[in-house]
Amino acid sequence: MEEVARFVLALEQPEVAEEVMHFLDRTGHARVVGSASDERQLLEAIRQLEPDAVVAAPTFIPSREELNGASLFALDTTQSVATLRRAIRGGAAGFYLWPAEREELAIAAARIRPPIEHEMDKRAPVIAVYGPRGGAGTTFVATHLAAAFARRGRSCVLVDLDVVFADASAAVGVPIDEPVRTVADLLPLGDEVSARHVNEVVWRHQQGFGVLLAPGDEVAAVTVRGHHYRAAVAAVRKTCDVVVLHVPRALDEIARTGLELSDRVLVVLGLDVLSFRDARRAITVAGIEERCAFVVNRARRSEIAPSDVERVFGVPPIAVIPAAAGVPEAQDHGQLLPLRGRVGRAIDRLARRVTEDA
Ligand SMILES: Nc1ncnc2c1ncn2[C@@H]1O[C@H](COP(=O)(O)OP(=O)(O)OP(=O)(O)O)[C@@H](O)[C@H]1O
Ligand SMILES: [Mg+2]
Repeated sequence: MEEVARFVLALEQPEVAEEVMHFLDRTGHARVVGSASDERQLLEAIRQLEPDAVVAAPTFIPSREELNGASLFALDTTQSVATLRRAIRGGAAGFYLWPAEREELAIAAARIRPPIEHEMDKRAPVIAVYGPRGGAGTTFVATHLAAAFARRGRSCVLVDLDVVFADASAAVGVPIDEPVRTVADLLPLGDEVSARHVNEVVWRHQQGFGVLLAPGDEVAAVTVRGHHYRAAVAAVRKTCDVVVLHVPRALDEIARTGLELSDRVLVVLGLDVLSFRDARRAITVAGIEERCAFVVNRARRSEIAPSDVERVFGVPPIAVIPAAAGVPEAQDHGQLLPLRGRVGRAIDRLARRVTEDA
């Protein structure tokens, strides 16, 4: 296995690029495999060379998705608030003034590990959203939670395990007349799914999160199995900061696999007797007592109150999302609610609490 991390440079001044290249090569920890002098060339180099790291001028910083898992270092010969801000926004691991801070760059470059090691290391937390009672709001909570993570700057991939109905696709507005890639496209790879394969298949929502879509057709419903999702989720974890699983209600093999893979299971409850009863059963059957947190959804005045969660399950709910009139209509149109207003704020708080938790 190659021990040296592979770098691509994207710097404005050719003479600086030359110096940085020789300097990095001399450290013995980095090898410059490509150089770009504009944004287009940089994207092309990332695509073709799949570097472990990119050293870029602030003006050339690509988006996280475009980086395709590479680490990012910003480098310039001068520094201003605007360029620093751009570097931070682009997710740069550091900003280095050239040549004054080249030793710091060398230290950071030495920490970049070659791909295989690097891939094995990254394991984003997996958060399952699961509603034991139908209609409790699993799809609503899972899709909005993904958007809330994205807004908080945490790159998130929502994985739809609902192979038959693929409700997450409709809820986030995946166009029905466009061909899209789904988890079924990973099937030929068996259990050999890599982060790069996932990045090619994931559908991007305009609010900044990705979705590994479910096929939602009858053929795939019998061919996609739990182990396919296991391999897919293992690869998805290497591509983002947090994974949200949209788990269908029926505790079939795929749903159980999803729950098993999760670090945290958000159990979505309505304020009704069957929600509580079904949750208790599902938690026992799936064996997830230790990993559960409870989200009350569609809360409104009723005989059962959010405080009953603690009485029945021994812990207070991690979030209480109120019922709001606009939710069904937005969902029917494939639109996500803005993360303000009472419902939006409750979901944002949920994202924050889950993040602290993780
Ligand atoms: N907080 C809320 N306020 C008002 N309506 C809501 C709220 N949450 C969900 N709904 C609506 O309730 C219905 C069921 O929600 P959703 O589809 O998310 O539930 P589900 O648990 O995924 O259902 P299923 O069991 O069918 O998968 C939808 O019409 C949705 O728009
Ligand atoms: Mg649903």
